[in-house]
Amino acid sequence: MKRQQIAAGNWKMNTTLKEGVRLASAVAKNTKTGNALVILGTPFTHLASVKQVIKSNKRVKLAAQNCYEKESGAFTGAISVDMIKSTGADYVILGHSERRAIFGETDKLIAHKIDLVLSRKMKPIFCCGEPLDVRKAKKHKTLVSQQVRKGLFHLSEADFKKVVIAYEPVWAIGTGVTASPEQAQEMHAHIRKIVAKKYGDKIANKVTILYGGSVKPANAKELFSQTDVDGGLVGGASLDAKGFGAIINSF
Ligand code: PGA
Repeated sequence: MKRQQIAAGNWKMNTTLKEGVRLASAVAKNTKTGNALVILGTPFTHLASVKQVIKSNKRVKLAAQNCYEKESGAFTGAISVDMIKSTGADYVILGHSERRAIFGETDKLIAHKIDLVLSRKMKPIFCCGEPLDVRKAKKHKTLVSQQVRKGLFHLSEADFKKVVIAYEPVWAIGTGVTASPEQAQEMHAHIRKIVAKKYGDKIANKVTILYGGSVKPANAKELFSQTDVDGGLVGGASLDAKGFGAIINSF
């Protein structure tokens, strides 16, 4: 079954507004061929401006990297789903390991944010993945199963179909160490299997599962060619238009 392939960039806390707009323009200009979607996960401050420079390219979409869990009110400094939606964003990245580890986000909180994003007709990019000690203890499948179940399995079939999953082993994020294509494939197949158990084969075969963790132009092709790897969530390498362009062309 044909699945939507995606090359998503997660800029994290990088680029000034000017740099971000320039980067987005370059990516939008270079993205011409193929059927894959490109998603740019920019800082909140850049969303509206980046939207302006990508909107004429139907293959390039916009994502926020997080949202606050309340809808509005006295939460100084927080950004709501309605604010994000009003910029023209299509996706929100949720449950990134940096949000979990640095900001203490729990499975329960992430599940709630998934609901909020869906309620505004945006799509969540749900991240999961194990730290190194968990892999060493051979508990990685158990942990990722738990994260996926707790984060997503309360959803109706109709809502689940709108979700993109990103498997990002924590030990591979920003470390230059990439999961081997076999390690990525093994976990992606596992995730698809538990999704099939819950929602059936048809939905499982359709859900896009991205790999994240030191994806680079040099390894993207091999990773993306794995049966159950439908693209990447790319951090560091998405900050360079040329390199990210090469990743986009790796499908
Ligand atoms: P990285 O980050 O590509 O820099 O390892 C990936 C991510 O955190 O999404």
